[in-house]
Amino acid sequence: MAASGEPGRQWQEEVAAVVVVGSCMTDLVSLTSRLPKTGETIHGHKFFIGFGGKGANQCVQAARLGAKASMVCKVGKDSFGSDHIENLKQNDISTEFTYQTKDAATGTASIIVNNEGQNIVIIVAGANLLLNTEDLREAASVISRAKVMICQLEVTPAISLEALTMAHSSGVKTVFNPAPAIADLDPRFYTVSDVFCCNESEAEILTGLTVCSPADAGKAALVLMERGCQVVIITLGAEGCVMQSRTESVPKHIVTEKVKTVDTTWRPAWLQTQE
Ligand SMILES: *[C@@H]1O[C@H](CO)[C@@H](O)[C@H](O)[C@H]1NC(C)=O
Repeated sequence: MAASGEPGRQWQEEVAAVVVVGSCMTDLVSLTSRLPKTGETIHGHKFFIGFGGKGANQCVQAARLGAKASMVCKVGKDSFGSDHIENLKQNDISTEFTYQTKDAATGTASIIVNNEGQNIVIIVAGANLLLNTEDLREAASVISRAKVMICQLEVTPAISLEALTMAHSSGVKTVFNPAPAIADLDPRFYTVSDVFCCNESEAEILTGLTVCSPADAGKAALVLMERGCQVVIITLGAEGCVMQSRTESVPKHIVTEKVKTVDTTWRPAWLQTQE
């Protein structure tokens, strides 16, 4: 059963251009002067809750860039799950196939960060791992009518693969972000990915090559292309990215504008100014 019961008002006739099949996680962040030892209780100086999950983050970003987006995922029938659904709706995202289950808690990332920025993170994927084949079948019409479908690896990999395969066979452009990377990725992921987009450390894990420069990334991209992708993008932080497609014989380095890094992960802007 879909959680929301009804799609948002603006959704009644419209088809989502971007469908994300992926994860929703709640970040529970405590800031402390140092990390606790085993059995120790210490005081932290700040706590906040954030909306996360690679899938939900990508979906929110697509919506903010102006796409009609739909989030296919599973959260718990708990307050974190309900907050996620509310947040997706606030971002104009269809939650028609955002499922809520009683059988597991909403995925969480409990994060402790010390003053040096070192951290300890525990991820409990929870409800994310209960997203199943039946859920995908229910969402089949929205998946097959999308322009683009995006998947990552924070739900059961077999489900990501099934979603990509469904979309691919319906002619939907598939974007796969193999994050967090696994070394023995099922080779079928490459053939059902129109765009295979990973970062430098994921490219290293997948290819076994060292990726420290745009030239290295070009070599890794070629290896990934040989496995069947149509387009490979390897992101390189300040160095931009390297792209390789079937239509071009050499990898292309796309540079980016230098920006002052505010945060590479999850820290909200207000924290930067207070520290
Ligand atoms: C690449 O992505 C992974 C998640 O799969 C993340 O843990 C890692 O920090 C990223 N690496 C870089 C260099 O951005």
